[in-house]
Parts: sequence; C-alpha cells; structure tokens
Amino acid sequence: MAQSEYIKSLLQKAQQNLKTIVLPEGEDERVLEAAHLITEAKTAKIIILGDTKKIADFYAKNNWSLYDIEVINPADSPQLGKYTELLYELRKAKGLSYEEAQKLALNNNYFGTLMIKAGDADGMVSGANHSTADTVRPALQIIKSAKKERAVSSFFIMVSQNKPYIFSDCGVVINPNDKELADIALTAAETAIMFGIEPTVAMLSFSTKGSAKGEEVEKVQRATALAKQALQSEEYRGMNIKIDGELQVDAALDAGVCAKKAPNSEVDGKARVMIFPNLDAGNICYKMLQRLGRCEAYGPILQGLNAPVNDLSRGCSAEDIVGAVAITCIQANK
Ligand SMILES: CC(C)(COP(=O)(O)OP(=O)(O)OC[C@H]1O[C@@H](n2cnc3c(N)ncnc32)[C@H](O)[C@@H]1OP(=O)(O)O)[C@@H](O)C(=O)NCCC(=O)NCCS
Repeated sequence: MAQSEYIKSLLQKAQQNLKTIVLPEGEDERVLEAAHLITEAKTAKIIILGDTKKIADFYAKNNWSLYDIEVINPADSPQLGKYTELLYELRKAKGLSYEEAQKLALNNNYFGTLMIKAGDADGMVSGANHSTADTVRPALQIIKSAKKERAVSSFFIMVSQNKPYIFSDCGVVINPNDKELADIALTAAETAIMFGIEPTVAMLSFSTKGSAKGEEVEKVQRATALAKQALQSEEYRGMNIKIDGELQVDAALDAGVCAKKAPNSEVDGKARVMIFPNLDAGNICYKMLQRLGRCEAYGPILQGLNAPVNDLSRGCSAEDIVGAVAITCIQANK
C-alpha cells in the first residue's frame, strides 16, 4: 500500500535531525532494502547487524551503495567485550552469570539494545524475523521504563483516509489491571502529542456509560477515573488531554452517536486515541482494520521506555520498516 501523506510528513520530520538506528536483522532482505531506502532518502543513519560478507554481496547484486551504512557482525565487533560487561553489570543482581552475558551479547537483539544503552545508537527496529517477546524483552531488561512505576506498553499509528489515530495497547500488556490501563491511556496521550495528533482519548468497552454491566466494564470505569485524576496533577497541566470512558467505538468516533449515548462526554465523538481493555481487543481490532479496512498500520511501537526500541510485524514490507524507522527517529528526538 502507498504511504499516506501523514507518514511521508513523519519521514520529512525525521530527516531534519538525523538519528542513528540499528536494524539487527541483517539476514532479512526486506530489512536490507529498507536500510537502502532510508539511507538514500537520508531519513536516518543506519547500522545493520549481520554477516558482513552476505550483506555486501546482496548490496552489490542490487547495485546499492553501502557507503553510508555501517555493517557490524557482533561476533567480530571490538565493542563485544564492552557490551558483555555492560549487560553483566546491569543484570548480575538478577542472577545473570558472566558466561550467560557473553552468550546473550552475541544475540543481535541484545547487541543492538546494548548499543543504545551504551550511547552508540539512538534507537532500534527489529521483529521482521523475531516474535514481539524476543524484541521487547531485551529492551525491558536493559533500557527500562522511563517512569519506574509505569508499565511499558505499545501503540500503533493507524492511518485511515490520511487521518492518523493512536491505538493502544495492541502489542505488549496482555491483560492490564485498572492502574495499568490508566497508565496506558496517559502514555498514549503523551505519544499522540509527540506525533502531532490531538490527545482526545477514548477508553473503549462494549458498554457506554453504564449501558452494560460486568467486571470488564467496571475495570474500564475505574481506569478512566484513575486517568482523569492523574490529569489534575502538575505533570499534565496545560497539555489539554481529554480522556473519557467507558465508551463503545461508535460513541468514541461519531458525534451523533456520542450525543445520544454519552451526551456530556468530553470526547464528543472525536477520539483520536483509542485505548483497548486488553491485548485481545487491541490486537484483533488493528489487524482487522489493516486487512479489511485498508488502514495503514505502523507498530507495535513501544512507549514509556527510556529510549526507543520498536517491533515489526513478521508480515511487514520494506516500506513498513521505513515507516517504523521514521517513527523511531521522532521518538529519539524527544
Ligand atoms: C512483553 C513481554 C514479552 C514481557 O514478558 P517476559 O519476557 O515474560 O518478561 P518478564 O516477565 O520475564 O520480565 C522481564 C523484565 O521486564 C520487565 N517487564 C515485563 N513487562 C514489562 C512492562 N510492560 N513494562 C516494564 N517492564 C516490564 C519485568 O519487570 C522484568 O524486569 P527485571 O527482569 O529487570 O525484573 C510479555 O508481556 C509478552 O509476551 N507480551 C505479549 C507480547 C506479544 O506476544 N504480543 C503479540 C502481539 S504484537
């Protein structure tokens, strides 16, 4: 699918402040093509991890230049010892032995994440060939939450008819409790601001303002109350974030329906940030819109980390990877 004007605008934004992004899956041709496209467009400085000879051969076969791209084979890197040491120091209290640290540092996802921790790169995009858990775990262990008391979660930028929305969480927190759900909503609102999207947040449910009952509905109601309470704090002053729930999708997106079902809602049928009650709902909904609704879907993008590490869907195209790199650059610019 062609990239929307919105994603093109993110690419331009990334070009204004060049960041260094690691792509650890150098064995994947889509990743190699994306690295070429990103470098040609000067969207980011790219480091590819993988077999240097195979990557050079692939570039030569396609008549692409590797001149502005750094290629590192972790096993041959002079930095391997430094990264092993760093990993060991960070994780020894958790029971990691030096031998285990040596083995893990050779894993491309760990090596790339350690590059960020050491300040040798600004962000990483992986997951074309790895599960979400394999991509996310090193980031959770090494980069860690920006706010200690708040879980890292994820979002998708969904573009429908050139209009961007934030969907969260569709990729990490499987069954958030009320506090975690409130945190996801607040972090997603901050994400929306970072990406120039209005922070009008709908806490989604199968119920609107008490129209249905049950523990699932009550969880969303409690989370909404917690998030609204947090908005009163100094931290959120002047950010103009609007959060309301519990809302069904039609009330969140349609002013007419909202006026009937939730007449006093601040969201007013204009939600741009959609918060799902659990990962089943979020993941199913984004994929349905992507496959049947012809929406562009970028993510899962992690939010709430100290530095950006982002995941790809294993069905991604080279263009999807380019979009994910642009998004990662904007997060790194924060
Ligand atoms: C993200 C995920 C991989 C973490 O689970 P895990 O690997 O079992 O991680 P653990 O529970 O062992 O935790 C590892 C570390 O990360 C931390 N952590 C786990 N989830 C976290 C979160 N959401 N935010 C911040 N830290 C988190 C743990 O506290 C732990 O830290 P520590 O080792 O320093 O004490 C897991 O939540 C998961 O599998 N989510 C679903 C992902 C998925 O399959 N998505 C598919 C749709 S795209």
